[in-house]
Amino acid sequence: MEKFFNAVKPGSREAHLAAEIDPRRLPRHIAIIMDGNGRWAQRRHLPRVAGHRSGVRPVRETIESCAQLGIGYLTLYAFSVENWKRPRTEVDTLWQLLRHSLIKELPELKRNGVRLQILGRMEALPEEVQRDLDAAMLDTAANTGLQLSIALNYSGRSEIVDAVNAIVQQQRRLGVSTAVTEETIAANLYTAGMPDPDLLIRTSGEMRISNFLLWQIAYSEIWVTEKMWPEFRRTDLLQAILDYQKRERRYGGLTETESAEELAPVAVRSRHP
Ligand code: FPP
Repeated sequence: MEKFFNAVKPGSREAHLAAEIDPRRLPRHIAIIMDGNGRWAQRRHLPRVAGHRSGVRPVRETIESCAQLGIGYLTLYAFSVENWKRPRTEVDTLWQLLRHSLIKELPELKRNGVRLQILGRMEALPEEVQRDLDAAMLDTAANTGLQLSIALNYSGRSEIVDAVNAIVQQQRRLGVSTAVTEETIAANLYTAGMPDPDLLIRTSGEMRISNFLLWQIAYSEIWVTEKMWPEFRRTDLLQAILDYQKRERRYGGLTETESAEELAPVAVRSRHP
């Protein structure tokens, strides 16, 4: 977190919010559904692609902030399997923006120790996009800071299908048919080896998961803001982390207080009917 304090203006709202954050209880993994680029543009009578262009700044700021705060994993939902249904010009602009941002920001990503990974069926992406992504992944593979995963041509259901098919193939190859466990499935998802997201952020006020990380978000804390993605700022990220730290995560169990009361002798318990 020290790096974050060094990067923000002393006395600014960012500095105040960051000072309230408990550095020992940071989420290890933050996942974000970046939504509302199109609506942001339409409200300003601009073409939808102007919204995507304005969505690059919050992407850059969020990656930088997470790296400086010491967050381990950041996963961004940039293009879903369903997004191919959009007009060709919009889809093409998204790939152009991605390639352009990648080439421009790569030196900064490397300076910040960021390691890039792609989640999704990459083989269906335009060839030049695949080439640039492969090069950037190779170039950052040895970095040990923030692991940045960008979900591209991603679908949570397809990911589970791909994992199940990989398991079936392994079993066929080995000539075994053992029972599949949660661990086997997790180890064959695109996110193998990563912790599940602790915090899932969504912009644009929609209360939907939109086929994102279906398996991995089983116990994630969800934080939704009415702001459209181009309006998402460092202060929103900090607010989301602060609100996350106020939540009580129970994973289907009881809180510490509830467990203590359950174990306490009847005389003590009767004072709290
Ligand atoms: C959702 O808004 C946003 C996307 C589908 C694309 C996200 C892409 C960027 C932020 C640009 C660059 C990305 C990187 C990783 C550099 P929407 O179009 O679904 O908005 P709407 O719901 O208002 O139509």
